[in-house]
Amino acid sequence: MNDRVAIESIPLYTHLDRINSGLAALGIGAADPIRPDQLFPLDQWHYHDTDAIRAAANHLGLGPASRVLEIGSGIGGPARYLAHSTGCHVTALELQPKVHAVAADLTQRCGLGGRVLHLCGDALSHPIQDAAFDAMVSWLAVLHIPDRRRLYARLARALRPGGGCYVEDLCMRAPFAVQDQRDLRDIVFGVSVTGIDEHADDLRAADFIDVVATDQTADWAPYTSARLAAWQANHASYARAHGEGAYAAQELFYAVIARLFASGSLGGVRLVARVA
Ligand SMILES: C[S@@+](CC[C@H](N)C(=O)[O-])C[C@H]1O[C@@H](n2cnc3c(N)ncnc32)[C@H](O)[C@@H]1O
Repeated sequence: MNDRVAIESIPLYTHLDRINSGLAALGIGAADPIRPDQLFPLDQWHYHDTDAIRAAANHLGLGPASRVLEIGSGIGGPARYLAHSTGCHVTALELQPKVHAVAADLTQRCGLGGRVLHLCGDALSHPIQDAAFDAMVSWLAVLHIPDRRRLYARLARALRPGGGCYVEDLCMRAPFAVQDQRDLRDIVFGVSVTGIDEHADDLRAADFIDVVATDQTADWAPYTSARLAAWQANHASYARAHGEGAYAAQELFYAVIARLFASGSLGGVRLVARVA
């Protein structure tokens, strides 16, 4: 199976026109300028929206002089929030061309094109300049990337000495039942979901030091079930604005994630580290 075709078909990444229809509901046309804060409710594809990004910015001490590399940047929500809130410069690398195109368009319309550079490519092979970044960040993208050791070796090289790493990702807390394993692969595209220790070891193998892994499961499990309940409660109104197909795709994604967390097999992790 071609990974790229498969990742584009998972329900989080279909119906990308939902962003413009969400903006249309605010009276913002398809080519209109946008204030970054108008996008934040629509463009964060991880847990705890912009709070999660602010925590990273604080931890890494980002400011206007910081050069940040984001891996798996989606439609650009975290990159724009970092640039808007700290003034830093972000290079945002995204695999899927259609997702990348949405990200680049939104960033231009927000007037953040001078601080956020969107690149389209695979983090395992796209050229990344050595020692060019003060920090690397990633939210809920590493789980999609099959060779984590190779990824982290490349990212360690991309950081200047002392540069920081901040990653949030899914993890495995107990073996998955057969159907859950299938859903993790086919609905979530979780191709590198492992125990927390294995993930931390991959960072150390790439010469990251001071690796601290924090289990987020107790926080994310109730978050995912509340997210599903809120989604279902808003069914009629969302489907009116975006169509039943868009509603159903995200409901499927949210339901599978909530069930995998509830099963006790899926968990969440935050990993911070730095290079020497
Ligand atoms: C769940 S989304 C999160 C997006 C963004 N980090 C956020 O939190 O809003 C994960 C993103 O990683 C991207 N991705 C997956 N594999 C990748 C790879 N090998 N290189 C770059 N991006 C990748 C996916 O296409 C997807 O847009």
